[in-house]
Amino acid sequence: MAMAKVDKWNASLYDNKHAFVSKYGETLIGLLAPADGEKILDLGCGTGDLTNQLSERGALVTGVDQSANMVDQAQRKYPHLQFEMMDGAELTYQEEFDAVFSNAALHWMKTPEPVLSGIYRALKPGGRFVAEFGGQNNVAIVTNELQAQFEKRSIDFSARFPWYFPSIGDYTGKMEEAGFFVTFAEHIDRPTLLEGEEGLRNWLVMFAASFFEGIAEEQKREIVKEVEQNLRPTLYQETGWVADYKRIRVSGIKR
Ligand code: BEZ
Repeated sequence: MAMAKVDKWNASLYDNKHAFVSKYGETLIGLLAPADGEKILDLGCGTGDLTNQLSERGALVTGVDQSANMVDQAQRKYPHLQFEMMDGAELTYQEEFDAVFSNAALHWMKTPEPVLSGIYRALKPGGRFVAEFGGQNNVAIVTNELQAQFEKRSIDFSARFPWYFPSIGDYTGKMEEAGFFVTFAEHIDRPTLLEGEEGLRNWLVMFAASFFEGIAEEQKREIVKEVEQNLRPTLYQETGWVADYKRIRVSGIKR
């Protein structure tokens, strides 16, 4: 019998404290350039803000996310739109969409090949795939410090690493293997403000929770405190914590 997956996403916290994720994604809509009446799949739609923006531009949208909490929140906020809970590695669509759009989601899908094949299958011939997500060395200053803290305590770090952060060379090669004609790729620095004194610890709680699974609360608090202390000289600026995000943006066409 398959075990039910635990849904670790707190959708309200995501909307309240991490709205920057969708804000940055707005410029990706420019790269997609959705046309009126196009059928678009928003893969990893979270709480649906960008799905809604695509709809406001006249697209016929479907948002999918693996998290039931995210999908429920998206459906509450945008009841007129269609959302479905679906694993990105098990997309069930066949030649239904003019475009697949994905912002800040693909780095959570650690095995990219089935994701790319599912996206390819979901597109109509000539359809396009436009995505942005964490690239090689994304948040490396933060994760190197976490790694040092874990190793100091003999806690395994790499087995807990929850993300896939490829280079554009690596990822566009996989896009081609899936059948795409790659039309664009870039790898950019995106220093990202995590607002306020608590910004880094809020980010760790929201996005890096898997590192701390099975670790006692007290030890977790100690690690977070040391990470903050050691990173403050590098990452804390007048406005708050600034995380060293590095994103890749890609687009491709289904040949
Ligand atoms: C990102 O959007 O690049 C990201 C978000 C959370 C954790 C890691 C990366």
